[in-house]
Amino acid sequence: MMNASEQDNAYQKPLVEMSDVALTYGEGSEGLLALQDVNLNIQQGEFVALVGPSGCGKSTMLKLISGLRLPRAGHVVIAGREVAQPLKFVGMAFQSPALLPWRNVLSNVMLPLEIVEPHCRTFKKDMAANIERANALFKKVGLKDVAQRYPWQLSGGMQQRASLCRSLIHEPRLLLLDEPFGALDAFTREDLWDTLKALWSEQGFTVVLVTHDLAEATYLADTVHVFSQRPGRIIHSRKIPQECRRSRADRYTALFAEEVASLREYVGHAQEEHA
Ligand SMILES: Nc1ncnc2c1ncn2[C@@H]1O[C@H](COP(=O)(O)OP(=O)(O)O)[C@@H](O)[C@H]1O
Ligand SMILES: [Mg+2]
Repeated sequence: MMNASEQDNAYQKPLVEMSDVALTYGEGSEGLLALQDVNLNIQQGEFVALVGPSGCGKSTMLKLISGLRLPRAGHVVIAGREVAQPLKFVGMAFQSPALLPWRNVLSNVMLPLEIVEPHCRTFKKDMAANIERANALFKKVGLKDVAQRYPWQLSGGMQQRASLCRSLIHEPRLLLLDEPFGALDAFTREDLWDTLKALWSEQGFTVVLVTHDLAEATYLADTVHVFSQRPGRIIHSRKIPQECRRSRADRYTALFAEEVASLREYVGHAQEEHA
């Protein structure tokens, strides 16, 4: 039996622990060192943003966290276990919504329930509940009457909302987002920030968001980590004050502008480093 304080400690253990991680693409002298000396802890329920120059290894970080790639050196420990294969409790969304064109929106969104353990075993039997789950998510992200439509019948913003539903339908503990709002117009993007924020506050999953939009990082994330040029490593980690993140009005304050400017400076250093 654990006593209360041990239980507290167990609870406070980070969900993601990366220590001295390096990753190389390819072998030998041909190999390309993408990440080196990466140390990062992510707490349960934390919203983390990763920013940095193009090609510094941000997408690679998500591959490591999801178990799609294994590190060449160091350790990636998630929920107390060394990652050895793709994880099942992860949801992912990308810049391109990547919905399957031959499936309607409902069956696109239910895809993880159809293929991910343990849901896939009872997918057919649970169909009514699965559809209900999808409809509840549609409602939360502000999608109406889309279930029977095909992806190409939706606007880019609606497709990205559907993609967000698909990444969350199996109630993952960990949501990995790779520039999911990058291709949207500014108004749609800002609406989706609030949609994501509401889902996160309500459901308490952990988020790792890759973005090159520093205002987006500041508005959404508890902590922003800035990466150096390749080989990427973290050169600055910054806790964002709550006052920047309560509602959209906070984005027009002096404090918000200062936070974005500080981040900009670190990203600037990262870009100059190898120039
Ligand atoms: N599958 C791959 N094979 C070889 N090189 C890759 C592969 N994926 C990414 N890279 C290289 O690794 C580096 C980091 O890539 P990536 O993680 O995609 O960067 P970012 O997402 O920060 O732009 C880049 O130089 C990229 O060209
Ligand atoms: Mg990338």
